[in-house]
Amino acid sequence: MAKRIRKAVFPVAGLGTRVLPATKSIPKEMLTVVDRPVLQHCVDEAREAGIEHFVFVTGRNKAVIEDHFDMAYELEDTLQRRGKKKEYDALMADLPAAGATSFTRQQAPLGLGHAVWCARDIIGDEPFAVLLPDMITLPGQRGGRCLAQCIEAYEKHQGNIIAVEEVAPQDTHMYGVVSVGADFGHTFEISGMVEKPPQGTAPSNFIISGRYVLEPQIFPILERVEKGAGGEIQLTDGMKKLAEAQGFFGVRFDGKTYDTGSKVGFLAANVAFAMARDDIRPGFLEELKKIVGPL
Ligand code: G1P
Repeated sequence: MAKRIRKAVFPVAGLGTRVLPATKSIPKEMLTVVDRPVLQHCVDEAREAGIEHFVFVTGRNKAVIEDHFDMAYELEDTLQRRGKKKEYDALMADLPAAGATSFTRQQAPLGLGHAVWCARDIIGDEPFAVLLPDMITLPGQRGGRCLAQCIEAYEKHQGNIIAVEEVAPQDTHMYGVVSVGADFGHTFEISGMVEKPPQGTAPSNFIISGRYVLEPQIFPILERVEKGAGGEIQLTDGMKKLAEAQGFFGVRFDGKTYDTGSKVGFLAANVAFAMARDDIRPGFLEELKKIVGPL
């Protein structure tokens, strides 16, 4: 029996240099897609996938993230006194249970592998999920957002899981890339991986798209892994080492993933998430038509 995935790590220490000046004083994870912070969309995805404990690896100037997942006494009191029950209930539904969040700081931007390693004591000796909050997802035909599909694959294969997505060959150098081994359709065995391969050298077009389920044996490896691409401690390098001892499987997520860390991706996410909302789509579509012509 595969162990249940109860905890998820959200590395949220990044500086957001791709969307300056928006992120000068606001953490990039708090920018809104429709009416929810990007990070809240990721937490929603994790919750839907059964995650019970949310571990945020933050950094300086990110304290507002902690406030977002706490009670907001004055606001809640005012909403209640003014009879704004709908708004109050929505806030309460989003509030994580007491003790269900942990915050730790990555003191220096040493890379994603280092950020995940910072969560080692909070995770302990159990498999866990990682969600990169730049990436937000909408459900596909198979049901569920990306992490739910990853956990389903974890239960099936009982190995480490990486969500992948196919991109154009000229874009592979910006990502981690996996090699495809035995193929099972929705999932496949990962036979190799490389972080940010130079143009023209990627082993496939399947990029690592920001959702992982990992065994805790990754932690002692991350403690020792050397700096890799970009001079950073890379999660991909740690996983590559772990793959010498344990199985890794790719999940072809059949929904849509948006990279909100880029300006175009962020705008596209806002359009897609607005169109996915029954209460917003009709009015939004009218406005869109005025801007871009008939759709
Ligand atoms: C990170 C990972 C990379 C992955 C990417 C997805 O890179 O290291 O493997 O493909 O996220 O967004 P970063 O975006 O931090 O450079």
